[in-house]
This record gives sequence, C-alpha cells and structure tokens, in this order.
Amino acid sequence: MKRVFSGVQPTGNIHIGNYLGAIRQFVELQEENECIYCIVDMHSITVPQNPKELRQHTLDVAALYLAVGIDPKKSIVFVQSDVPGHAELSWVLTCNSYTGELSRMTQFKDKSKGKESAPAGLFTYPILMAADILLYDADIVPVGNDQKQHIELCRDIAIRVNNKYKKTFVVPDGRFLKAGARIMALDDPSKKMSKSAENIYSRISLLDEPSKIKKSIMRATTDSEGSIRFDPENKPGVSNLLNIYSAFSGKEIPDIEKEYEGCGYGDFKKDLVEVTTQALAPIKERFNEIRQSDELIQILKDGAQRANAIAEKTMKRVKENFGLGLGV
Ligand code: TYM
Repeated sequence: MKRVFSGVQPTGNIHIGNYLGAIRQFVELQEENECIYCIVDMHSITVPQNPKELRQHTLDVAALYLAVGIDPKKSIVFVQSDVPGHAELSWVLTCNSYTGELSRMTQFKDKSKGKESAPAGLFTYPILMAADILLYDADIVPVGNDQKQHIELCRDIAIRVNNKYKKTFVVPDGRFLKAGARIMALDDPSKKMSKSAENIYSRISLLDEPSKIKKSIMRATTDSEGSIRFDPENKPGVSNLLNIYSAFSGKEIPDIEKEYEGCGYGDFKKDLVEVTTQALAPIKERFNEIRQSDELIQILKDGAQRANAIAEKTMKRVKENFGLGLGV
C-alpha cells in the first residue's frame, strides 16, 4: 500500500482546473492507498488574507473534499496549521535548500515580476510544500502540471538530505493526469485557469450556478476555423474545451472529435455546458449539506490527530538524524 499526500490552498474559487487536474485523483487514489489530504492554509498566507475569510475558505475546501467523494473513514483530511510538524520540518529543509534553486521556480518568478522586493514566504513557499510531502513519507503526490517544478525540488531536497545525513526521507513521485493536468483560462487559453484572475468568466468554480457555467463556456475563446479538432498549438481554445469535455465525460478526445465532425462551435459548447453542469450538480448539492453539518469540524479534528501522529514520528527521526534536541 502506497502513501499519498496532496493539498489545496484555501483561497476561494476552487475551480474545475483544481478538480480535473488534482482533486479528482484524490478520490480515485483512496481506494487502494493510504491517503492524506490537506488544506494548506499556511501556503495561502504567502499573500495577505482576511483572517475571517481564510477560516471560511478553509472550511469550504474541507467540505468540497468530502463533497467530491473523499471519505474521511478511508483518508485523512486535515488543516495544515493544525499540525506543527509542517513549520518545524520546513525550517530544517530551508537549511538544506539554496537560494539559486528557489530563484528558478517559475511560480515565484511570475508572482514577483517587476517588484523590487517580494515577500520572503513567496520565495520559500516550495520548501514548505516539500515539508508537507516529506513529513508523511509520501510515495505519490497527485497534482496538476503547474506543480511539476515544485515536486522536482522536493525530490532534490530529499535526495540531498538522504545523501548528506542518514537516509531520512522517502523520495516521492508526482502523479499527473492526461486530460486535466493543465486546464487553461476560458477567456485566454494561453494562461492557466486560476483562482485569482479578475475575469470571473475565465474560470468555472465548482460551486457556480448553471447560468454562470453556461455564460463562461458560451463566451469561451475559440478561433475562426470552425472545426472541432485537438491541436493545442494552433487551436488552444478549442483544445482546452475538448480537454474539459474529455475529463468530465470520460470519453477519449479522438472519439469526441468524431462525434462532432461537421458540427459548429455553438452545438459543441452547448453540449459541454450540459456535461459540465451535470458533473458539478451533485458536488454542489453535497457541499451545501456537509458545509452546514457540525460533523465537519469533528472530521478535521480527528484528521489532525491522525496526521500529527505520523508527523511526530517523522520529526523524531529527523531530529535524531540531524542531532537536533535532546528528546527531553
Ligand atoms: P493550488 O491550491 O494552487 O492548486 C491545487 C491543485 O490544483 C492544481 N491546479 C490545476 N490543475 C489543472 N489545471 C489548472 N488550471 C490548475 N490550477 C491548479 C494544482 O496543480 C494543485 O495540484 N502548492 C500547491 C498546494 C500544495 C501542495 C502541497 C500540493 C501545498 N503543499 C503538497 C501537493 C503536495 C498549490 O498552490 O496548489
């Protein structure tokens, strides 16, 4: 049985990119693995947050995890800041990381572009992410493509520590899906779909109303060729829609292309609205029930206790191997 770890930031607007690239995998993996799913609230404070909203968004992500099918009897679901080991291990890993490798992270480069000085947390963010993963001896990390570089860094740090000290960490592998690993913005398919983009029609959030889903898809950028063909380089908009269709319907892209041969974009988009709305409706219904139930906090409390038991064991090993503390 393999150990799986992943996390999502509680920054609101969890969208179909997060779902199709990452969260969908969480559900699938829990059947045959020991899974740990975290709401990474400490990552979200790398940019300013409203404290009240942060708490609400944390509970929203927890409820969404359960609404999409994560079963707290099978998987551990918890909030990052409820387990102190994340911050503790992060410091140890910071002392085994280099500013050069952190400067090469494209996410940091994008977020700090044009600024003379950036928050230090944005810079060291990938180390905290490595700590999340290594703290639980995770073998598999299901994520979207945008996290590839961070996973590589995590592996490099783990290998470095293992070579320098006693073997301390499991070296994890990222897990990326074929359809869904990189869902692009609907209004501009050269950018990835993101929680923070100003145009709300650039994304479909998991809790969007059907009318908003319809509007977002019907106005999605396509091209003037008029044929439904998967060609990300020349037809990024249509290819993105085909990807979304494939991920939600489970149909292969060549089969979808055949089905819509000779059809216009309007017909294809109408069907995509249907496929998306139908996939999201049950999630939304379950979300509303779970979010209001008292059980949610209890599940997170129980999850934090179970996660902490694993984290404490790892920290004991780390301290032993590094000569830290006296264990008193
Ligand atoms: P976050 O919160 O930005 O995104 C959560 C997950 O969604 C994936 N994702 C996408 N997948 C496909 N298309 C998109 N447009 C898209 N946008 C986002 C992300 O790849 C991610 O898997 N650093 C992470 C959170 C994190 C983490 C971890 C993940 C912290 N610690 C440890 C795994 C393991 C992040 O900011 O994800």
